Amino acid sequence: MNKTGFIFDLDGVIVDTAKYHYLAWKNLAQELGFEFTHEQNELFKGVSRKRCLEILLDIGGVTATQEQFDSWMIEKNEDYLKYIEKMDETEILPDVPKVLEYVKRHEMPIALGSASKNARPILEKVKLLSYFETIVDGNNVTKAKPDPEVFLIAAEQLGVRADQCVVFEDAQAGIAAANSADMISIGIGDAQVLSEADYNFKDFTEIDDGFLKKLITQE
Ligand code: G6P
Ligand code: MG
Repeated sequence: MNKTGFIFDLDGVIVDTAKYHYLAWKNLAQELGFEFTHEQNELFKGVSRKRCLEILLDIGGVTATQEQFDSWMIEKNEDYLKYIEKMDETEILPDVPKVLEYVKRHEMPIALGSASKNARPILEKVKLLSYFETIVDGNNVTKAKPDPEVFLIAAEQLGVRADQCVVFEDAQAGIAAANSADMISIGIGDAQVLSEADYNFKDFTEIDDGFLKKLITQE
């Protein structure tokens, strides 16, 4: 039987780090003299750190020298890491371990495919690192989602054909990336926002063994 490669995004799929990204960006915005709202934070999901800062500065109408830009990138990340430092298993989103366990028990390979450069320490903090055969993250890719690069590298590292991979994603750009990699895309979150996904679930509590079995046997 052919293996199905399971690829998971991190932020918003495995853990809810969006709230910490938000706090760190909000702190920086405040320092620069403007407000940054929850709604605006939605635009940052799945988007690289550099691109987030560009959008943030646009929102605030702030122009930056290269030096300022670089130092704000560092400042935001250091602030974000202070929140990450305190994370533990209680921050894993509901039923994520149930799904990882099922996939592992059926000996299907698992990869992480994330834009974050902090993926590995976060997985360590929440004690899920051992499930992943490979971590492909912001440190390994040159092209951001919706480019399929991150998922194609993950498939290659798992030794599974792209069209035999499934991707769990909470961001529109991530679903677009999975679709253009010819993978099965599974939207986690708002089905209206993620309407391009092949399947939609509010969260992992809605995913049962029957569905996972279907993915594995590729019926
Ligand atoms: C994920 C998040 C984004 C974040 C990006 C980079 O995709 O959804 O909001 O900007 O990762 O994260 P990093 O940890 O490298 O700053
Ligand atoms: Mg995400």
